[in-house]
Amino acid sequence: MKSAVFFALLPTLLSATSVLAVAPIPQKISNLPTVPNKFIIEVDDLASIPNKRSFTRSLDAVYSALNARDVQYEVNKEYDTDGVFVGAALTLSSAEDVRAVEETPGVKAIRPVRAFKQPILAKKHVVTGHNDPELPADTLSTHVMTGVDKLHAEGNVGAGIKIGIIDTGIDYKHASLGGGIGGNFLVAGGYDFVGDAYNGNNDPVPDADPYDNCNGHGTHVAGIIAAQPGNEYNITGVAYGSKIYSYRVFGCSGSVTEEVLVDALIRGYKDGNDILTLSLGGADGWSASSSAIVAGRLADLGKIVTIAAGNDGAAGSWYSSSPGNAHDVISVASVENTVISLQSAIVHGATYGPIVYFGTRPFPVTTELPIYAISNSTTISNDACDPLPDSTPDLSSYLVIVRRGSCTFITKLANIAAKGGKATLIYDNGNGFAGISVGTYVATLIQAADGEFLVNQFAAGDKISISFPQTGGAVDFPSETGGLVSTFTSYGPSNDFYFKPAVAAPGGNILSTYPLALGGFAVLSGTSMATPFLAGTSALYLNAKGKSAGVAKAARDVFETTATKIPSSKTDGDPLQTLTQAGAGLVDAYKAIHGTTVISPGELVLNDTAHFKGIQTFTVKNTGRTNKRYTLSHVPAGTALTIQEGSILAEVGPVPLSTNYASVTVVPSSFSLAPGRSQVVVAVIKPPAGVDASRYPIYSGFIDVTSASDVTHVSYLGLVGSLKNKQVVDNTDAFFGIKTPVIIDATGNWQEAATNYTFANGDWPSLLWKLAFGTPALRVDLVSAAINLKPTLSARGFPFGPFFTFPTKHRSGSYAQVKIVGPLASFDYIPRHDDLDNAPYSLFNLETSTFANGTTIPSGTYRVLLRALRVTGNPLLEEDYESWLSPIVGITAP
Ligand SMILES: *[C@@H]1O[C@H](CO)[C@@H](O)[C@H](O)[C@H]1NC(C)=O
Ligand SMILES: *[C@@H]1O[C@H](CO)[C@@H](O)[C@H](O)[C@H]1NC(C)=O
Ligand SMILES: *[C@@H]1O[C@H](CO)[C@@H](O)[C@H](O)[C@H]1NC(C)=O
Ligand SMILES: *[C@@H]1O[C@H](CO)[C@@H](O)[C@H](O)[C@H]1NC(C)=O
Ligand SMILES: *[C@@H]1O[C@H](CO)[C@@H](O)[C@H](O)[C@H]1NC(C)=O
Repeated sequence: MKSAVFFALLPTLLSATSVLAVAPIPQKISNLPTVPNKFIIEVDDLASIPNKRSFTRSLDAVYSALNARDVQYEVNKEYDTDGVFVGAALTLSSAEDVRAVEETPGVKAIRPVRAFKQPILAKKHVVTGHNDPELPADTLSTHVMTGVDKLHAEGNVGAGIKIGIIDTGIDYKHASLGGGIGGNFLVAGGYDFVGDAYNGNNDPVPDADPYDNCNGHGTHVAGIIAAQPGNEYNITGVAYGSKIYSYRVFGCSGSVTEEVLVDALIRGYKDGNDILTLSLGGADGWSASSSAIVAGRLADLGKIVTIAAGNDGAAGSWYSSSPGNAHDVISVASVENTVISLQSAIVHGATYGPIVYFGTRPFPVTTELPIYAISNSTTISNDACDPLPDSTPDLSSYLVIVRRGSCTFITKLANIAAKGGKATLIYDNGNGFAGISVGTYVATLIQAADGEFLVNQFAAGDKISISFPQTGGAVDFPSETGGLVSTFTSYGPSNDFYFKPAVAAPGGNILSTYPLALGGFAVLSGTSMATPFLAGTSALYLNAKGKSAGVAKAARDVFETTATKIPSSKTDGDPLQTLTQAGAGLVDAYKAIHGTTVISPGELVLNDTAHFKGIQTFTVKNTGRTNKRYTLSHVPAGTALTIQEGSILAEVGPVPLSTNYASVTVVPSSFSLAPGRSQVVVAVIKPPAGVDASRYPIYSGFIDVTSASDVTHVSYLGLVGSLKNKQVVDNTDAFFGIKTPVIIDATGNWQEAATNYTFANGDWPSLLWKLAFGTPALRVDLVSAAINLKPTLSARGFPFGPFFTFPTKHRSGSYAQVKIVGPLASFDYIPRHDDLDNAPYSLFNLETSTFANGTTIPSGTYRVLLRALRVTGNPLLEEDYESWLSPIVGITAP
């Protein structure tokens, strides 16, 4: 049947084929595009490799074993740093070879090579000059928000600390970034792993020089860390006394593959950086990628590793980003800058003002205009919603004043334009002072009180006129969202319930350096901007506390326990923001360094109800010089309702919050500590009652530890419900209008009846699926057409054929007992789909009639069996998988 839906779908499907179609040989992939036929292997220590003979490197022993098995492989890159990562990036030529490598003694793991796109920024504006209205007026507001200004005042600017930035390179010729590269400069060294032309799909062309004058991202990141004082915009980096090492892994545009990223991480480690920072990644939900594993190891070795939490907040919960998912690294959320720069108008004929209007650029009116109020009432609810009366004068020489409400701005402005009106100020009616849409009309929003003043003056017959300065009219205005978590910040936790993100830093509306060739300075927004802020903060922390591995490994706990709690809105009474987006709060650099109460660990992970750890312990230590009396108290954050009501699909961001909170008992709930003494505290946490477990509510909050001189806290995170119950495969018709999974033929039909495929002239089947939740294992197998198996998911209302007339039997107890003819594909640790993505589904194309191992499938009639393991499920147990069985697929030998 040719479905109407399918026509609308086709272009998307075709474009997706090139990106997401499974590569010539099946790989274990996630939804991140992976590089066809390339893999990263990790090998054992030499000591644990059998038959190592005279080899001095374990890699050589493994190569020799591969040669003995006649595996065809090409070595693209070797990683040989004992204690960090020993392995190689390989290109393999067939699925049999992948299997052979996997089974070769000495090979610890083989993982696909992932690609990460250039970070997509939430905002990008290149500053045009000193009078650019988008320049934040207080360039140090982010430092004030986090106490960095106070550390600078003490002289702590991160001196003696080396920070490796893995990014697009740096325009180090920028005077604010030192003006050069080498030992005496701010940018002391680095490496270009890729070259300008690299885009993730071509061969990198490395050289020693990480100069960037074409991309800009890394230059902005570098300025947040270390812009030198005294520049024309008076911005300074958080740790402008540190030394920067620049590792360029992106070309001018495109992606980076893990082959390069793993290399850069290891190089950053070997160069002796104290901190490594990565403003990159992709939605994932798992921590199984090679780069996440290497990043996590560097953290375990005593490096502070800061990685962006991701900018996928709109996609909702359970969508944390890799490599930020890596255990022990610090995943960084973004908070909005407290100030935004708005424009102001001058009032003539009365002593009033200036009047701030909601525009980041000057209002395009260059002459002083008298005002005309459409109504003399300041309470009118439907001002200018109807055509204006005949008595209305020609409005073309006036600045029209109209009250917001009842109809759209466009309706009001059209009625005003019908009387010749060319420029309008709309005054707020209490709805909120924010950006408005006025189409092509010249109009902007002012605050209610300002509008009421103008109308009252007009009604009293006073002659009032207004002018709009075209330069110098910018004012600092408190941002409505200032101090809140940036809505673009990706929500965690990871699917295995790791506390992601860890902590937040300013990342929304940030002015920093930009390549000279691209304008010199820019305002950008993203977790990409928050991440270097935390790297800079880490440098101040190491400068103050010393560079030992112990100090570095304690950093995350210290930042978490001293962070500032973040509300979910500016409305009194609204809950704190869920820790699944805010982490433990906004970093407080001053408190992290000068605090005299140390709590560890910083995170209490309670996990789901099936693996519930409701009894937790933590230690409170008084590192101050005086006795302290502590009192402990519970401060809950909003409970995130992560799944839509009555659905299996995730709530999109902003994720709704409930005020049903956990209850917490702590023992002891108060105690005194002499200097240097510590106390173990037991916390008993009970999940909230009255929440619907089918919405997978994640509750979170803090246990505050308060003394007369300080407040610190430990964060907790738990789930009402068991992840093993969470449906993984999306079998709804919500996205395509037809239920998934579905088999599609090459001409665009979706298959509902038995269909034969010849594998000639494009006549082959594709399996399309969508995941509503991440899965640790997804398997696609060919099974007998007559298989006696009742799938857990029946895809559609129409009958599948005679098979379904079998009486329902109990499912077999074990995964292995399901009789398959042969495997077609398998994918490990893959994320759910996101409907906002370009390709919110996966497509497996069976282009040749071969099993996963490359062997030809004998002609016959089969079904395709898709199985997805539920999170925390046992991979050996069939009942922990969801299964879907296709209609009959006939395979005719080509
Ligand atoms: C420039 O920054 C310094 C702090 O670094 C501050 O004291 C000074 O007021 C700023 N000047 C302007 C013009 O913003
Ligand atoms: C508003 O007041 C002004 C000044 O008194 C007057 O000229 C105008 O007609 C009034 N407008 C309306 C709509 O009544
Ligand atoms: C949560 O429980 C699952 C199942 O035991 C486990 O795999 C996972 O590691 C746990 N998460 C954390 C953060 O401990
Ligand atoms: C598919 O091929 C089989 C065997 O060649 C044949 O018996 C069957 O009728 C074919 N089915 C369809 C729908 O063409
Ligand atoms: C490939 O897989 C098929 C199906 O599992 C199996 O029958 C065949 O023996 C395998 N071939 C090789 C060379 O291992």
